[in-house]
Amino acid sequence: MADNSNQEQAEYWNEQAGPKWVELQSFIDAQVGPLGLAAMERLGPINGAKILDVGCGCGATSLELARRVGAGGSVLGADLSRPMLDRAAQSAKESGTTNVAFVRADAQSETFANDFDAVFSRFGVMFFADPEAAFANLRASLKANGVVSFVCWRAITENEWMWVPTQAVLEHLPPPELPVPGAPGPFAFAEEGRAEKVLAAAGFSAIDVDRHDTELPIGEGRELDEIVPIMMQMGPAARLLRDADDQTRSRVAQSLRSALEPFGGDGGLAMKASVWLVRASA
Ligand SMILES: C[S@@+](CC[C@H](N)C(=O)[O-])C[C@H]1O[C@@H](n2cnc3c(N)ncnc32)[C@H](O)[C@@H]1O
Repeated sequence: MADNSNQEQAEYWNEQAGPKWVELQSFIDAQVGPLGLAAMERLGPINGAKILDVGCGCGATSLELARRVGAGGSVLGADLSRPMLDRAAQSAKESGTTNVAFVRADAQSETFANDFDAVFSRFGVMFFADPEAAFANLRASLKANGVVSFVCWRAITENEWMWVPTQAVLEHLPPPELPVPGAPGPFAFAEEGRAEKVLAAAGFSAIDVDRHDTELPIGEGRELDEIVPIMMQMGPAARLLRDADDQTRSRVAQSLRSALEPFGGDGGLAMKASVWLVRASA
């Protein structure tokens, strides 16, 4: 089902990250929810629209879009990850949402219907092996006047909530090889000008990329001792800790606990985040 070039991502999102995201869904949705809503606002009026939610994951944004398009519209959530899609479908059923459907698909190569009004994504478009081909494919799913709106991360150093845990890990583990700029991963579009270049190559016009800096609510209502192990399961820190033994993990947990104290404590943290909000016309 996944394009061969995205096979590694398919394995990662099905076997490693997917089950974790399902387990941590409420924590993650509370944290990045406002960023998804900021990208949604940039779609403009969507009542009655047909929307493709790319890399929809556990489906929170698909359900919110379904609510916003109303009974006259519909939403298709597409993702590589079976466990995350199962959770999305379960949430739709539990909430009685009938104008949303989910499909397991590689958004880089799947032939979608060609009559979507909008393509949306909350952090689901940075993992393509061939981003130009993927965005050209997504553009083909849009009507002539359709739009794309997505949110993606700026550099890790601009995102305290990922940078602080990564530094805590690197106190105890050797640094990894630096990723090739633009390589598939959370920071594929971090470099200034990259999103514009990829979207233009894919045929989009009226490309509008805005920097958005904010503070994210992390682990609201939870004790710091609960937040620390969760943050070790998220983002780049989790990838670095993949093969770490228990002793290393507990040393990292101690370092991270001290590093997080200045950002709040029991009851939750507030940490800086920085993203690009990207919008373009088909
Ligand atoms: C960082 S998660 C974001 C999930 C969700 N949008 C959210 O905000 O909670 C990235 C998502 O993109 C999906 N993904 C990665 N590559 C994809 C591809 N080629 N086609 C479809 N989905 C993909 C992953 O399976 C994962 O669910």
